[in-house]
Amino acid sequence: MSHTSQKNSRDSVFTNRKIVGHEDLNPNGTLFGGKIMAWIDEVAFMSARRYSGVPFVVTVHVDSISFLMPLFLGDHVILTSQVNYTGRTSMEIEVRVEREDPYTGNRTQATSAYLTFVALDENRKPTPVPSLLLESLDDEHRHREAHLRSKVRERMRRHLKNRKQRALSPPRANATLPDPAPIYILSKHLKRIGARELSASVDEHVLKVERTLRKRVRVVLGIDPHAEIAG
Ligand SMILES: CC(C)(COP(=O)(O)OP(=O)(O)OC[C@H]1O[C@@H](n2cnc3c(N)ncnc32)[C@H](O)[C@@H]1OP(=O)(O)O)[C@@H](O)C(=O)NCCC(=O)NCCS
Repeated sequence: MSHTSQKNSRDSVFTNRKIVGHEDLNPNGTLFGGKIMAWIDEVAFMSARRYSGVPFVVTVHVDSISFLMPLFLGDHVILTSQVNYTGRTSMEIEVRVEREDPYTGNRTQATSAYLTFVALDENRKPTPVPSLLLESLDDEHRHREAHLRSKVRERMRRHLKNRKQRALSPPRANATLPDPAPIYILSKHLKRIGARELSASVDEHVLKVERTLRKRVRVVLGIDPHAEIAG
């Protein structure tokens, strides 16, 4: 798939209908949350596959889901999904879940979710998806909001990767830290007895020790020792 190909979000719209059965209920007698999540993932998968045009698409992230109302035995549930935003190989898919009155057809929103899928090639490596054509104000609005969410996800991903990296690199066993207390005491004492020149050179030494300490603490904590850290 060439990254220069384009598609509009209408190409990715899927609507799935479900009826809440006995097997879908939790002990409270309402639709099991995990069941809705599976239905959401399923319809989003269809959108991702249709849009990307490749057989392998995987969910890599699900943004928070809020359940706005309970769903009961026999309720008609409509799940509608479409692509909001694309990166190079990833797509954000929005899924809207509504309860439909079986007799009037009136719909009430029950929940919605944003999922990120990645398209994979035959070697199961990320592969480019078509870029998204924005054809209406609504498309632009959804794209803008999704772009903001993608930035949050990227930050979260970087954070999780760093944390994993830190967990994998245990602190060095010999990372003993020099004790700065005696040097501070010496510097104070020299000032008190008027040995200003000597005390200045001790202060300089104290600063050096402090810098070394900060660096070592960062190494122990798994933080880049050269990174700028406020304070
Ligand atoms: C999909 C997978 C192969 C990607 O591998 P990777 O090393 O993360 O690949 P990359 O770093 O090149 O990322 C590929 C894309 O995924 C996006 N991505 C990966 N993890 C992400 C996450 N947690 N949240 C949001 N986006 C993510 C990247 O931003 C990138 O998007 P872009 O190409 O549009 O810029 C790997 O994450 C994977 O196998 N995950 C498990 C998927 C799975 O089993 N899902 C459950 C069942 S479907």
